[in-house]
Amino acid sequence: MTRSRRVLKWIGIVLGGLVAVLAVAFAVLYVAGGAKFNKAYTVPVESITVPTDAAAVQRGEHLAVINICTRCHGQDLSGNLDFDIPGLVTIPTPNLTAGAGGIGSSYTDADWVRAIRHGVGHDGRGLFIMPSQAFHFLSDEDLGAVIAYVRSRPAVDNPLPPRSIGPLGRVMGAVGMFPPPAAEQIDQSGPRPAAPPRGVTAAYGGYLTRTCTECHGANLNGAPFGPPGQQVPTPNLTRGGELGGWSEQDFFTTMRTGLTPKGHQLDQEMPWPYYGQMTDDELRAIWLYLQSLPALNPGG
Ligand code: HEC
Ligand code: HEC
Repeated sequence: MTRSRRVLKWIGIVLGGLVAVLAVAFAVLYVAGGAKFNKAYTVPVESITVPTDAAAVQRGEHLAVINICTRCHGQDLSGNLDFDIPGLVTIPTPNLTAGAGGIGSSYTDADWVRAIRHGVGHDGRGLFIMPSQAFHFLSDEDLGAVIAYVRSRPAVDNPLPPRSIGPLGRVMGAVGMFPPPAAEQIDQSGPRPAAPPRGVTAAYGGYLTRTCTECHGANLNGAPFGPPGQQVPTPNLTRGGELGGWSEQDFFTTMRTGLTPKGHQLDQEMPWPYYGQMTDDELRAIWLYLQSLPALNPGG
């Protein structure tokens, strides 16, 4: 063997070894990512009263708007394929009605509670994208009203494909590039959620901001937001951010028009068209709560 042929042979062995290692690594991640995606969860499910009266349904409609259920599941709650990246991951936003392809016809009260409050779907799998970690804190009364409203909606036929995950999605999931499902972010053995009495109080405002923490961070001082690799922090909502110089009226205008005092038009990534439908009392309570927080440095 000449020297150059020997070198080539060694290069071949090293490359072959590398390919084998990569293939094994890929296989391991492929299996691990699939297992993570399809993992089943057993969670305690409280029985709650689901009212049927018109007042509760109307309150449920308001709650479904300000908790942005309709933003994702659609105005008629018939679902869509907004989260579909072929080859990577397909997570249909389910049709919640009793029409064809909808879960509404077979869902029991316990199924609704399990999904909305605990982040576990009808088939026992952990839900992704669905922000149950924020809804976990809805009181029994509010959750009951939301369910009453969803149930009251007309059946819409909209069959959607099953959720699925492609090879790249599995690998990305296995190495932790996706946030964990809500079921893992929730303290499943924690105390049963309770709400402070409704009113213009900082305490009630704090209850209403649970849904904001989803994007603005647990301390509301901002958190990384956006797809993996392209994240930018959301604004700091404590007095440590721009809100430190705002009046209550500035806050109302921003929440209702998306226009900040500085003249910046907020992107609809910030669901202001939904939060803008909060009542004056609700927005005032949130304002009181934000003002009561320590002025934190920006998070994220
Ligand atoms: C950010 C978008 C988003 C918001 C907001 C949202 N959902 Fe979902 N929801 C989803 C997606 C996506 C799924 C499917 C998740 C999966 O299959 O992993 C889902 C799943 C569900 C399920 C479970 C269905 C099943 O397969 O068992 C129910 C019930 C549900 N949502 C109700 C609601 C209600 C009620 C609200 C408001 C309180 C709401 N969702 C808010 C995106 C959202
Ligand atoms: C789905 C993610 C998301 C949720 C949920 C969310 N926000 Fe935002 N919010 C954003 C983003 C992103 C921005 C920045 C948008 C821009 O600059 O165009 C923002 C900006 C803001 C601003 C402007 C702040 C500034 O300094 O300019 C306010 C005020 C605000 N949000 C309040 C709230 C409140 C109150 C809630 C809950 C009721 C909430 N947000 C829930 C994503 C979110």
